[in-house]
Amino acid sequence: MKRYRGKTVLITGASSGIGLEFAKSLAQSKANLVLTARSEQTITEMARMFQNEQNIKAHAFAADLSTQSGPHALFKKITDAEIDVDVVINNAGFGKWGAFESVDCATYESMCMLNINAVTVLTHLFLPQMLKKGSGGFLNVASTAGFQPVPYFATYSATKSFVLSFSEALAEEYRGRGITVTCLCPGGTESNFHNISKMDRRKLSSLHSADTVAKLGLQAFLSGKLTLIPGARNYLLVNSSRFSPRSVVAKVTAMMFKP
Ligand SMILES: NC(=O)c1ccc[n+]([C@@H]2O[C@H](COP(=O)([O-])OP(=O)(O)OC[C@H]3O[C@@H](n4cnc5c(N)ncnc54)[C@H](OP(=O)(O)O)[C@@H]3O)[C@@H](O)[C@H]2O)c1
Repeated sequence: MKRYRGKTVLITGASSGIGLEFAKSLAQSKANLVLTARSEQTITEMARMFQNEQNIKAHAFAADLSTQSGPHALFKKITDAEIDVDVVINNAGFGKWGAFESVDCATYESMCMLNINAVTVLTHLFLPQMLKKGSGGFLNVASTAGFQPVPYFATYSATKSFVLSFSEALAEEYRGRGITVTCLCPGGTESNFHNISKMDRRKLSSLHSADTVAKLGLQAFLSGKLTLIPGARNYLLVNSSRFSPRSVVAKVTAMMFKP
């Protein structure tokens, strides 16, 4: 795909942070938008604003993607409205920081459902129409946390390893069939993520802006890149761990993330 103009892009987690910035950038590029998150009022107002200010088509469908039925119900609403989605941005996600046993099991279940299950199901549901057209694809948001084990963020980092591996595998599986899959792997980024994860702010250094991260992700998708890690420091951190034993990497990340 060469440009976003006139294409229809579904953004999950569009109500805040990186998702909100994807929506702003895409509206400026004159893409049509399908926004989803649980915050119905926020995404409805966003859709109205983009439609008026950017003269594009923008729809809002509220969904809780951490439930079994959520991704299916969202797909049904979109197809019932006869909206033909060209690109899916699987962005919604959350993490919880702390000793594994200090977070309740229901939270981990929701995290796995949102960060893993929703990505898998939405990809499976939207893929056939893209293959039929022979164009479009998926921009999946993982994390630098997905490249190695992260003690005290164990479940979250494992869900992001899933997104990274899943995206790389599908990119190869569908190469040559007109669609592309890009995995955006941000490091620390300004958003609501850190309030929700309850991560100690003192452990966070030099956060990227959500705007920068979203723009880099959108460019990477258009250029057919497999993965994108925003920022030279994040790129170096991720790649330096590749040549160390995983047990050593886990010890280093444990020191960085220990509460
Ligand atoms: N910020 C970082 O440092 C960072 C670093 C690496 C990767 N990431 C990844 O970037 C992605 C976007 O996060 P962000 O930083 O922009 O955080 P954010 O500001 O907290 O945004 C998360 C988005 O996900 C939506 N969401 C949460 N739970 C949901 C649910 N059950 N069903 C549907 N939507 C739900 C939220 O909307 P509602 O609350 O309205 O549902 C919100 O729009 C996530 O996948 C995150 O893991 C973030």
